[in-house]
Amino acid sequence: MKKSLATVAGVILITLSGSVFAGEAEEVGQKIYERAFGRGCGSCHDIASNPQLSALIKDGKLDRATFEKVLKEGKGGMPKAIETIMALVPVTKAGYGEDQAVDALYAYLKSK
Ligand code: HEC
Repeated sequence: MKKSLATVAGVILITLSGSVFAGEAEEVGQKIYERAFGRGCGSCHDIASNPQLSALIKDGKLDRATFEKVLKEGKGGMPKAIETIMALVPVTKAGYGEDQAVDALYAYLKSK
């Protein structure tokens, strides 16, 4: 009996910590979106004529690999963004590497 209670508690704990981590990443992602380049990605991407990142990701039209490639190399009017992202305080504070930062931003846009 005691043993099964401990198992249940363990499962609940793991479930909770999983969602806390997901929430933290999305929070960092949101800060990146709002702060990159000083005015945030939205200063360009919240304008209807530019790619609507959140909708593209949700519709499956912008995969994680393409997303990362554009951030690292730029594309047309889209400036290279990875350096400005990695220099942001929320990213350095979380101790994120490039993969984690891109993951966080992608997860935020997917949830937005
Ligand atoms: C100065 C304006 C500007 C800023 C700031 C900006 N973007 Fe862009 N972005 C663009 C433009 C314009 C395009 C379209 C480029 C093209 O297709 O030629 C684009 C394209 C993209 C694409 C490719 C979309 C696709 O479907 O191919 C991604 C991904 C992207 N931006 C992500 C971001 C992220 C993330 C940020 C913030 C870190 C950001 N952008 C900040 C202007 C901007």
